[in-house]
Amino acid sequence: MNSIRVFAPATVANVACGFDIFGFAVDNPGDELTLTFSDEPGVRIKDITGDGGRLSRDASKNTAGIAIQSFLKFIRRQEVGFDVVLHKKMPLGSGLGSSAASAVAGVFAANELLGRPLPTINLLPFAMEGERFASGSAHADNVGPSLLGGFVVIRSYQPLDVIRIDTKAQLFCTLVHPDIEVNTKDARFILKNEVSLKNTITQMGNVAGLIAGLMTPDYELISRSLVDVIIEPVRAILIPEFNEAKKAARDAGALGCSISGSGPSMFAWSRDAQTAEKVGEAMQQAFLSVGITSETYVSQINQQGPRVLTDAE
Ligand code: HSE
Repeated sequence: MNSIRVFAPATVANVACGFDIFGFAVDNPGDELTLTFSDEPGVRIKDITGDGGRLSRDASKNTAGIAIQSFLKFIRRQEVGFDVVLHKKMPLGSGLGSSAASAVAGVFAANELLGRPLPTINLLPFAMEGERFASGSAHADNVGPSLLGGFVVIRSYQPLDVIRIDTKAQLFCTLVHPDIEVNTKDARFILKNEVSLKNTITQMGNVAGLIAGLMTPDYELISRSLVDVIIEPVRAILIPEFNEAKKAARDAGALGCSISGSGPSMFAWSRDAQTAEKVGEAMQQAFLSVGITSETYVSQINQQGPRVLTDAE
């Protein structure tokens, strides 16, 4: 095989109460990437579509390029040459894990083309290097679920301990991306470094409740636990009509709603596809009331993570 085309899913990080420790993948949107062997050693970005020319074509300044380069270095195959064509299929700076999906697509494709020298889980640190470049911190709550699929917990960063939660919960995710941009670095910068004991206790209760709710599954418990008293109140100011959109989601039947990653996208979980669509419309209306247009995606939790695309896809 000389060339491969792959898909890596978008992700919702934090999932309300789990700042930097929870994330899940969705079926749609996601990035596509084509990787082709080249006789010339090193990684080159040949083309990027869908980014409006905003992403660097320099492989050492692009999350896919960085992830592939650090992977090749680790497996001591720096004599390998790769040409990358990246198709961005989601908005940048959206809170949908755009940089993570590109990094995962890159390193997954490289591992596949080289005959899988590493198991998928071991690709995580390389994808995290891309994230370090994109946001200034090597958080794994986007790259983890994009790489592994499903709902993922980052129990520890040092050493890295990533757990994929086996949930039987049937959840439909509504993602609404208002047409504004929030830079992850800025959204991290505004956070407070200290947290009160009271809020820590509340947050820990919700973190434990959400995991128990997902594993049972207990939808009422999931609903009660989708609460973030630490990060959301600070970041909500970056999203116009945040409270109105959240209320609209709940009123339309969502189990809960919060910021997706560092925003501005918001996510909501519902029990069925029809409710999830209604929730999306209600949230869009809230944004439209102040003249902000938005895009909506409805899908289930993606269980597979990245995949090789067939010619027909
Ligand atoms: N956990 C990260 C944050 C995700 O909220 O800053 C960023 O995509």
